Amino acid sequence: MTPDVRRAGSEVRIGVLCSRVRVEEKMLFAALRDRGVAYERLDPRGIAFKLDGGRPAAYDAVLVRCLSHSRAYYLTRWLEGLGVPTVSPHRTVATCGDKLLTSAALREAGLPIPRTVVAFTPQAALRAIEELGYPVVLKPVFGSWGRLLARVNDRDAAEAILEHKATLGGYVHSVFYIQEYVEKPGQDIRTMVVGEEVVYAIYRRSDHWITNTARGGEPLPCPITPEIEHLSLAAARAVGGGIVAVDLLEGADGRLLVNEVNHTPEFHGAMRATEVDIAGRITEYVLRVAHSV
Ligand SMILES: Nc1ncnc2c1ncn2[C@@H]1O[C@H](COP(=O)(O)OP(=O)(O)O)[C@@H](O)[C@H]1O
Ligand SMILES: [Mg+2]
Repeated sequence: MTPDVRRAGSEVRIGVLCSRVRVEEKMLFAALRDRGVAYERLDPRGIAFKLDGGRPAAYDAVLVRCLSHSRAYYLTRWLEGLGVPTVSPHRTVATCGDKLLTSAALREAGLPIPRTVVAFTPQAALRAIEELGYPVVLKPVFGSWGRLLARVNDRDAAEAILEHKATLGGYVHSVFYIQEYVEKPGQDIRTMVVGEEVVYAIYRRSDHWITNTARGGEPLPCPITPEIEHLSLAAARAVGGGIVAVDLLEGADGRLLVNEVNHTPEFHGAMRATEVDIAGRITEYVLRVAHSV
């Protein structure tokens, strides 16, 4: 990797792992500069890491902003092996990168989640779907932005999608992650947890059942109620902590369920609905982690 030190002489050195510099990364770099922090952008495309001892750790903390899950997954493991804390930690990245591992961690922490089943053959998946009752949602265990999600309303659709997945094959299509469809009120709730704090909550409103802002969901201000705060903090803790985004679904009975937890969240959509200085809060947290080592 080629160091690209922006400012020398300050106490801590922060690495920022990212290949594409999006609007979020620009704001994070600006927040680091405003605080006079020495930071380097580490482009994973240029990294070849050695496992036989490596070099001394050069950073007090590394903020992970990789778009690619595989890069975040392996590089957090490597950095932690060198004694460099990463934000978020490897455990969080590993858990959140897989929807099934996330659901398991949430459930084990006693949090309410939609009823979820996993199966490994189309036959077992069909039985599980029929048992849950229509509609159900099928999701790839890896992925984001609402991609490849399917709401399955009846047996005909279930048979068709299961056959398609079996024919497509590969790792992603051979794990059937099946969930009850939660009759939410035209929106879900997205929160961001930074360390031990919920920094914002927004509604994502949409005419479509998939409400991601990347898919046209409209971000609207949402108060951080005690329930939202409790579930968000508990969900973040359950997956390993750090900086995460939590998706909450309100069921027909008004109770909130934790749908998923994301590492390395985007936040430019949320900025349309909150005044919070998100990049500033992230930066302050990374500095606290760097100072605590
Ligand atoms: N079980 C469900 N019931 C109702 N809506 C759901 C369910 N699962 C997902 N959704 C909708 O789809 C969106 C994307 O699903 P999610 O599991 O968060 O995957 P992604 O990682 O693609 O964001 C959610 O924000 C929500 O609007
Ligand atoms: Mg989501």
